[in-house]
Amino acid sequence: MNRLSEFMLPPQRSTIAEGTDALFNFITVTSVILLIGITIAIIYFAWKYRRRSENDVTPVITHNNFLEITWSVIPLILVLIVFGWGLSGYVNLTTPPDDAYEIRVVGKSWLWEFHYETGHVSVNELHVPVNRPVKLVMISDDVLHSFYIPDYRVKMDVLPNRYTSLWFEATEVGESVIFCTEYCGSAHSNMLATAFVHPQEDFETWLEIAGSADDDMDPVELGEQLVTRNACNTCHSSDGSRLQGPSFLELFGAERVMEDGEVVTADENYIRESILEPNARITRGYQPVMPSYAGTLNDRQIDAIIEYIKTLQ
Ligand code: CUA
Repeated sequence: MNRLSEFMLPPQRSTIAEGTDALFNFITVTSVILLIGITIAIIYFAWKYRRRSENDVTPVITHNNFLEITWSVIPLILVLIVFGWGLSGYVNLTTPPDDAYEIRVVGKSWLWEFHYETGHVSVNELHVPVNRPVKLVMISDDVLHSFYIPDYRVKMDVLPNRYTSLWFEATEVGESVIFCTEYCGSAHSNMLATAFVHPQEDFETWLEIAGSADDDMDPVELGEQLVTRNACNTCHSSDGSRLQGPSFLELFGAERVMEDGEVVTADENYIRESILEPNARITRGYQPVMPSYAGTLNDRQIDAIIEYIKTLQ
């Protein structure tokens, strides 16, 4: 069974992965056995009861109690096993342990934000301690998203105006991919993040320094990092190519025509407004789809991004 999991499924990196895979394998193996058995029976009967002569008459059989009970009870037992097994897994998945470490998750088009107890916010990077239950309390800022970590076998829809949650306990230090699995617009397939699993002490250290790590960095360098860290580059290129949003190349100081015909010079105030209130003014030819970064980026970070954009001439 474990061989089967290794062949078909991603690595098992959470406490529930093995149980989930066991059920998955049970369903797969049972289905394959039934498929083979039924196929052989069909071929055999087709051959055995083939029409041999013009006078062949099909006998009239009204029913067969033994057969009918057998083919009803066996599937019933199988379905009940799958139901009971699945239900216990679902209950486990939706009942986080009381001591779970809590992280808030916000899904936006098209990025994931992770809010920690210290107030630190990371974008598209989920940091968690190993061997400790972690509970994610999730909400969406706009449309439906769905949070999925295949390595942990956890998935949950993320809705606007309503919290959903899931929990997991990572069993290995390392990195795992996080997907959005609900179609949420043109950059849905770029809505990726990474889960970083740290040894417990390292996680505490990471949490302590995460908020202040940028303090003595050069603004342009910091800005360049923030553009990647906050997933701005999912929609805004720095080489002039067109993505969901206008490119950052030759943006600063340029005159841009807005949707309503207004001509705006892309100066510091315009860029700041675009970060905090993206839908206040939309460049002609683009969709109003950018989420606000108010509460995510502080003034120093916004300044750093502006400084970085200035260098892209
Ligand atoms: Cu968010 Cu798909």
